[in-house]
Amino acid sequence: MKIVLIGYMGSGKSVVGKQLASKLNLGFKDLDTEIETVEEKTIPQLFSGKGEIYFRKKEREILKSILDSKNNLVLATGGGTPCYGDVINLLVSDKKVRTIYLMTSLKTLTERVFNEKRNRPLISHIKSVDELTAFIAKHLFERSQFYNQANFTVKTDGLTIEEVVDKIIQKVN
Ligand code: S3P
Repeated sequence: MKIVLIGYMGSGKSVVGKQLASKLNLGFKDLDTEIETVEEKTIPQLFSGKGEIYFRKKEREILKSILDSKNNLVLATGGGTPCYGDVINLLVSDKKVRTIYLMTSLKTLTERVFNEKRNRPLISHIKSVDELTAFIAKHLFERSQFYNQANFTVKTDGLTIEEVVDKIIQKVN
């Protein structure tokens, strides 16, 4: 089985994914890291050098090659991964994949990503917490239609990483 974590920037996909993989004795991959390795560029460099459309093409291509490989694993995606082209359909139509939406409140997402926005080209230009809150509110609303197609949803607010991991394990079993 492949467990694919989706959700907005700052929802904890990478940190939860790593811990989930180690608890289930599965391999772990982070899609952003895979893209950076293949392209030999950081995500901000890719966005500024080749543009978002190029990034989205590579993101889909590398995701597809991971889904096509036989290895079971936990995969943390990028916040936009399931929201472009046919990607959400690729995920939910694959019988070997369980897609989990990590659902996190606007307040928590904003607090988490405000200090880490430098590495996130879509929000790195935003100056204040209020402006970031308004941006995420709209963006999350647009993206929720994709996130909500996941096989399972786990609400992460108020939970420790370990509690989120345990909830995912209960759902996929
Ligand atoms: C993006 C989220 C990022 C990264 C890129 C675009 C998005 O991943 O893929 O900056 O469109 O939401 P994280 O969700 O890991 O920050």
